[in-house]
Amino acid sequence: MSIKKVLQLGDPLLSRISESVEDPGSGIIKILVDDIYDTMRDYQGVGLAAPQIGVLKRVVVFGFTGNSRYPDAEPVPETVLINPVIDILTTETVEDWEGCLSIPGMRGLVPRATKIRYGGFNHEGKTINRTVEGFHARVVLHECDHLDGILYIQRLKNLADFGFIDALQESKRYSPAPCDS
Ligand code: NI
Repeated sequence: MSIKKVLQLGDPLLSRISESVEDPGSGIIKILVDDIYDTMRDYQGVGLAAPQIGVLKRVVVFGFTGNSRYPDAEPVPETVLINPVIDILTTETVEDWEGCLSIPGMRGLVPRATKIRYGGFNHEGKTINRTVEGFHARVVLHECDHLDGILYIQRLKNLADFGFIDALQESKRYSPAPCDS
């Protein structure tokens, strides 16, 4: 078990483009996946990308099954996704609040496509190919953006829809959503 430090906004590694993984089933990748999982759970996130722990490889982990903090959220299967490829299946977007473990205590209103197909490999070398919608799609898009050095704040439509959780709640604009990733 190895809990890593999650890099915070301002760390230049968060803006870099990560490299493809040559062998998704290798022992080094298994250790990396374990580290990402341990760290994500310790920080109580719903997703985490390798660059957030300072490893510039195209590996993300996400998902949760029933979370007492977010009882209304639709569950997303726990998934390891390596070398992801995403197809956006609709021009329709919807705005919802997102948070990021690299930007603690803050939330922003981010437009995302409502339906996507994603593929890649897991750490056992098996292929993954899914068509998903809604919150599942949002989490995948958020995580995979990290692999291209993009944080959700770069996708805000309006800076007025970004701020500290406490202030947003006081102004009654924000209600908690399961998206610290
Ligand atoms: Ni994030």
